[in-house]
Amino acid sequence: MKCSKCGGTAVINMRQHRLRLCGRHFLEWFTAMTQRTIEKYKMFIPEDKVLVAVSGGKDSLALWDVLLQLGYQAEGMYIGLGIDEEIGYSNKSLEMCNKFVEEHHPDALLHVVDVGAEYGQSIPQLARTTQRGRGRPCAVCGLVKRHIMNSVARDGGFTAIATGHNLDDEVAVLMQNTLRWQSGYLARQAPVLEERDGLARKAKPFVRIYEREAAAFVLLRGIDYIYDECPFARGSTTNYYKELLNQLELNSPGTKQQFYLQFLRARDSGQVTFARPRESELHPCVRCGQPTTAGELCAFCRLWE
Ligand code: AMP
Ligand code: FES
Ligand code: ZN
Ligand code: ZN
Repeated sequence: MKCSKCGGTAVINMRQHRLRLCGRHFLEWFTAMTQRTIEKYKMFIPEDKVLVAVSGGKDSLALWDVLLQLGYQAEGMYIGLGIDEEIGYSNKSLEMCNKFVEEHHPDALLHVVDVGAEYGQSIPQLARTTQRGRGRPCAVCGLVKRHIMNSVARDGGFTAIATGHNLDDEVAVLMQNTLRWQSGYLARQAPVLEERDGLARKAKPFVRIYEREAAAFVLLRGIDYIYDECPFARGSTTNYYKELLNQLELNSPGTKQQFYLQFLRARDSGQVTFARPRESELHPCVRCGQPTTAGELCAFCRLWE
């Protein structure tokens, strides 16, 4: 298999782009694709202060690496969830983030917030004591992560938050929302969410990158990461849809990319429209100050009541 650019030995075949690339040209392509996505969806500019949410997994570490290489002001943020019962998942994830900084970008800044130390209960403990999510930690975890990202961004003067969501993540969500015709979600799912009521802009610079490409990138760059996924995500619906979509992709390369990108095009050009739910009035939570539609306390602050 030969590199489409230089004729050298290709290390990856990206059938949806009809492109086979050697290591050097793949790294160049990957970085350029990320930059093009950032520009196309107006995610951020070099003057922005970007907070990169890093989980210790391949996608978010690859993202931080690329943003630093591209010269963005990108600081990392790791949220310690305290998910350590079986495989020491959270401890290992933090180790990987620290190792990444030491080995690849010793001058980079990593902000660490440990949920248990900061608020008194880890995610698994909190999931047991709250009604929310009926004992499944994922809903509580998502809520806590969003809240902490927003407050670190606000306190640190960050203008944008970047996450490592890739095309496989986005297309699995799109499939779930489409199968249920969740028009509110379909109206909002986007590569970038604008700043609103003091919440920083949120961007996903990898929305055009397949998961296997992020895996190839970290391998070629020598970035170590946590291979295990969160033990609570095993058997999730999202993983099931990812498997189905990969089967479709195998028979018909480009299916995932087309489904996602054509959806964005059709919606954003007005070809199809989804009813947006009426935006509810927001007011600041009396305890933490973050905007909420709920009563006096936001959903995050109510968790600890
Ligand atoms: P996930 O929901 O686990 O697929 O993660 C999606 C994105 O959220 C990752 O690519 C990260 O950018 C971010 N993220 C997930 N977990 C954490 C964490 N513990 N700390 C900081 N960011 C995270
Ligand atoms: Fe939050 Fe698994 S990462 S429950
Ligand atoms: Zn080449
Ligand atoms: Zn609050």
